[in-house]
Amino acid sequence: MPGVEERIEQLRSEIEQHNYRYYVLSTPLISDVEFDRLMQQLIDLEAQHPELITPTSPTQRVGSDRNPSFVSVRHSVPMLSLSNTYNYDEVREFWHRLHSGNGSLTLDCELKFDGLSIAVVYLNGELSQAITRGDGIEGDDVTNNIRTIRSIPLRLLGENIPPRVEVRGEILLPYDEFERINSQRLAEGKDPFANPRNAASGTLKQLDTSVVSERRLDAFFYYLLVNGLDIDSHAERLHLAKSWGIKVSDYSAQCSTLEDIYAFIDHWDTARRSLPFATDGIVLKVDSLALQQTIGFTAKGPRWAIAYKYQPERASTQLIDVSYQVGRTGIITPVANLAPILISGTVVRRATLHNADFILSLDLHQKDYVYVEKGGEIIPKIAGVDKSLRQSDALPIVFPSTCPDCGTTLIKAEGEVGYFCPNKLGCPMQIKGSIEHYTQRKAADITIGPETIDALYSRGFVKSICDLYRLTADDILSLDGFKECATGNLLGSIEQSKSRPFPAILFGLGIRYVGENVAKILTRTFNSIETLMEASQEELQTIDGIGERIAESIVSFFADERNQKIIAALKEFGVTLSNPVEEGISEAISRPLEGKSIVISGTFSQHTRDEYTQIIEQLGGKKVSSISQKTSFILAGEDMGPSKREKALSLGIPLLSEDEFLALVDLPNTK
Ligand code: IVH
Repeated sequence: MPGVEERIEQLRSEIEQHNYRYYVLSTPLISDVEFDRLMQQLIDLEAQHPELITPTSPTQRVGSDRNPSFVSVRHSVPMLSLSNTYNYDEVREFWHRLHSGNGSLTLDCELKFDGLSIAVVYLNGELSQAITRGDGIEGDDVTNNIRTIRSIPLRLLGENIPPRVEVRGEILLPYDEFERINSQRLAEGKDPFANPRNAASGTLKQLDTSVVSERRLDAFFYYLLVNGLDIDSHAERLHLAKSWGIKVSDYSAQCSTLEDIYAFIDHWDTARRSLPFATDGIVLKVDSLALQQTIGFTAKGPRWAIAYKYQPERASTQLIDVSYQVGRTGIITPVANLAPILISGTVVRRATLHNADFILSLDLHQKDYVYVEKGGEIIPKIAGVDKSLRQSDALPIVFPSTCPDCGTTLIKAEGEVGYFCPNKLGCPMQIKGSIEHYTQRKAADITIGPETIDALYSRGFVKSICDLYRLTADDILSLDGFKECATGNLLGSIEQSKSRPFPAILFGLGIRYVGENVAKILTRTFNSIETLMEASQEELQTIDGIGERIAESIVSFFADERNQKIIAALKEFGVTLSNPVEEGISEAISRPLEGKSIVISGTFSQHTRDEYTQIIEQLGGKKVSSISQKTSFILAGEDMGPSKREKALSLGIPLLSEDEFLALVDLPNTK
């Protein structure tokens, strides 16, 4: 019988092998059920022996640290970008430039993945740090989020792994996952992400690692940085990285003639459309590292590599008509309805026209033929109008002056491009939108779909969010498709929403510019809706994170009698509109760091960085990741990076040692 420690180690290796086969090689050996069984064994053993849990255990991919914040870290070697070319002539020039003086050479042709660049560092074979590109010199430490990505090994496989390995590559969100996330967001009343790259970037910046873990990001690596490695060929180096378990693209080729390069570009121009993730071009790199050194760099990037970018696919189709959507906040968005057309593998029927100015800039007329483009964006764009096909009697498209839903005269808010319907509490689309907003998971969390809200509204049962709490079983049973069970569930869910936390309900009220984050900030200062309602604009603006626009919107929301009535009704129904009262001490806790923005840098001996983050937040401070004029001070541990130190000095921002900080906040110092 092996000991527990050996058994745990054995399970981890086995799981790592299966992960590699599944996520990197795409050739799994065992079924999902068998895999889950292995994982469960490991979870159970670790639960019995928590002292044996290591950060690189496969069980640690799912968020354990719920509040990491991003610290900016300097890259070992700057992360450069490539110069772009769009046509064969420029590729030929690049090729000839390389050949003059260098004789024959091999170029690696790779796909250009359309995601976010990342640098991942392994120390002694273990994932130690993952840094975003940032400004190329310094990026954000997103290690905790990267750990959730199954195709990125937490430990490298095999023998003789160099002590420090850095791989650089691209984080991607595959199309199917992108669509899944967007349909979920739409169901929750949130704006969908515009394209997989934005979705990947939004995901990587999430503070809650469990959200990152839910969204299945993927990655491809295209660069290996190891000091003293005696392999000159870039392709061979990637091959070696692959043998360590790093996910390297198989869609590469080594070319030694211009014709081969053109053939590669041509092939992928169409073939890339059937890939499950976004690519936007081809990268051409000199294969020999020695030659790369000779050819060198410009200030912007390497001279030994270029990116060839594909033109976004474009097609012409006819405008059928324009419809106008009314959003939850009353903003009117014009949408072009088009004769169906196939672009990049999907049928396009609609495209956004953004706002009135955009329609004017296109000079769009009825029944015009328009060019529709699908670039990196999944939502198609109208790139222009083919005026030669315009019918002579066609009238220009005119943005309406009244709301298409309720007929109220539209208003153009100062400083904004869009028109909006001011009839917030009387416009059906806005009312339904605000109910959908209130019921979403991050707000009141009531399990109800848009169709049910629509049905309840059209029968006159629900005209504002507080009417949800007046619903009876008979009301719901009268809707199509609702039997006892579903009715009970809906009523139960409505009842439960009353005990949702105050910030969630405040967010659910749908005050313009008060998103989840702002709601949290507000409830830190105001313990109840009453105190918030009494706050003046000036008072609100003194809060860190609340600017003029937000403060103005809050004050005008609460000044509206109809909103006051809704809030009074919610209170009567027992909906939580205040923070829980903590046993006696809450009032007494002092907040010595109130209003302070603090950067944490380096390592510490008495508490971990995460603990310091918690301490700062509990004492009223805000932890920020990069040094700026607004930083109050830096909690500087051992090995604080020289660039940070310099920046702090140049801005005159004080550095506090661990001892000084503990003394400042009156915490015990065990040294
Ligand atoms: S090589 C010094 N290879 O494209 C060489 N980049 O501007 C650096 N990218 O931000 C890049 N696929 O994130 C390289 N196969 C590939 C790539 C790739 C995508 C991204 C990369 C960089 C941008 C280039």
